[in-house]
Amino acid sequence: MLASTLDALHRRAGGFTVDQKEFPVMSLIEAAAKTRENAHAPYSNFKVGAAVRTVDGTVYTGCNVENVAYPEGTCAEAGAIAAMCAAGEYQIAEVAVIADSPDPVPPCGGCRQKLAEFAAGDVTVTMATTDGKTKTVTVADLLPGAFDAGHMDRT
Ligand code: THU
Repeated sequence: MLASTLDALHRRAGGFTVDQKEFPVMSLIEAAAKTRENAHAPYSNFKVGAAVRTVDGTVYTGCNVENVAYPEGTCAEAGAIAAMCAAGEYQIAEVAVIADSPDPVPPCGGCRQKLAEFAAGDVTVTMATTDGKTKTVTVADLLPGAFDAGHMDRT
């Protein structure tokens, strides 16, 4: 994809959304990597990018956004999910996460639960490093024995 097109998409309000039918060449990892550049991570110096593709084929991305009050920071995955919901979509078909780490970066515990809210157990999560290592697992692999609405059946 042309760099100028990528940049124009990147500046769109409401997140970095890509119509996969319009731009089929852009991989989910590429979308996550592009958004990772915008991470606000001056405290950890660990920039993370995430991308989710919905069942409708649109890609929403997010980056981590840290805060001087450290617990107030948000993860890249949470940002991508928020952009998806803000656009009125709620069903994730595929996930990608990327960081400059020695091994493919796994979503944190809280993000595993957040992904499970919108993704079926067989949805794939591709974890990547900026130097090209990848590892693909499923949402169920990441969160075995997940808490779900069924556990509240007696309420
Ligand atoms: N981080 C993410 O954005 N996603 C993850 O799944 C792992 C951790 C961020 C949070 C924090 O800004 C930085 O990485 C270091 O923990």
